[in-house]
Amino acid sequence: MTDTANDALDPADMREQYRTTELSAADLAPEPIAQFTRWFKETAENPAIHEPNAMIVSTATPGGRPSSRTVLLKHYDRAGFVFFTNYDSRKGAELAGNPYASLLFPWHPLARQIIVTGRAERVGRDETVAYFRTRPHGSQLGAWASRQSSVIASRAELLARYEELAARYPEGTQVPVPPEWGGVRVVPDAVEFWQGHENRLHDRLRYVRENGEDGENGETWRVERLAP
Ligand SMILES: Cc1cc2nc3c(=O)[nH]c(=O)nc-3n(C[C@H](O)[C@H](O)[C@H](O)COP(=O)(O)O)c2cc1C
Repeated sequence: MTDTANDALDPADMREQYRTTELSAADLAPEPIAQFTRWFKETAENPAIHEPNAMIVSTATPGGRPSSRTVLLKHYDRAGFVFFTNYDSRKGAELAGNPYASLLFPWHPLARQIIVTGRAERVGRDETVAYFRTRPHGSQLGAWASRQSSVIASRAELLARYEELAARYPEGTQVPVPPEWGGVRVVPDAVEFWQGHENRLHDRLRYVRENGEDGENGETWRVERLAP
């Protein structure tokens, strides 16, 4: 039986009034990574937010067709925001042809979101290997078992491949890093901090990089306020 219009939930009736404190440019850290650190800490301390490091990564084909998915942030610093994935996946292929990405942190219980846009690059192989070694044995096997984003016949096929790998690399043995698996760093050129308020009078403050993408020392950011 299908839902009728009457018993289906109507998203048009769903409305939240955000009761939050204002965000002004004077409150912001001098650069976006320090500001991200402040908000990330507050988010991680809030029990209402499950997986505060979950973010939506959007990529696009060279022709401009976008796609999105959730991934986990695994590292960040002044160089950028890093996640790990399969380079042969849809996102990997799109980034190979068009190396720009958007990252969105949807922290709804705090009426906050952060949006990072910038150029995406592969992290060094040593960084990938170091992170892979920290993953549980089962996740290391999982990275081999799944040719991410390819069409498969059944779940049984995936499990059979996993069992085969578990027999080849039992617990306690070193699982090699799959060549097509690794980190992606998004080097921000803009970072927007969004704080929701009553009556849709939200704060949106965006850091925009002024001196290109390189040069730690020459890094300067302009902050601009956007209409909500
Ligand atoms: C909470 C959550 C965390 C995830 N973390 C990752 C991750 O860190 N890396 C990853 O490759 N996929 C992760 N996934 C799976 C992706 O959303 C996606 O299904 C997969 O990467 C294939 O995406 P693609 O076909 O668009 O490339 C996660 C999914 C969820 C819901």
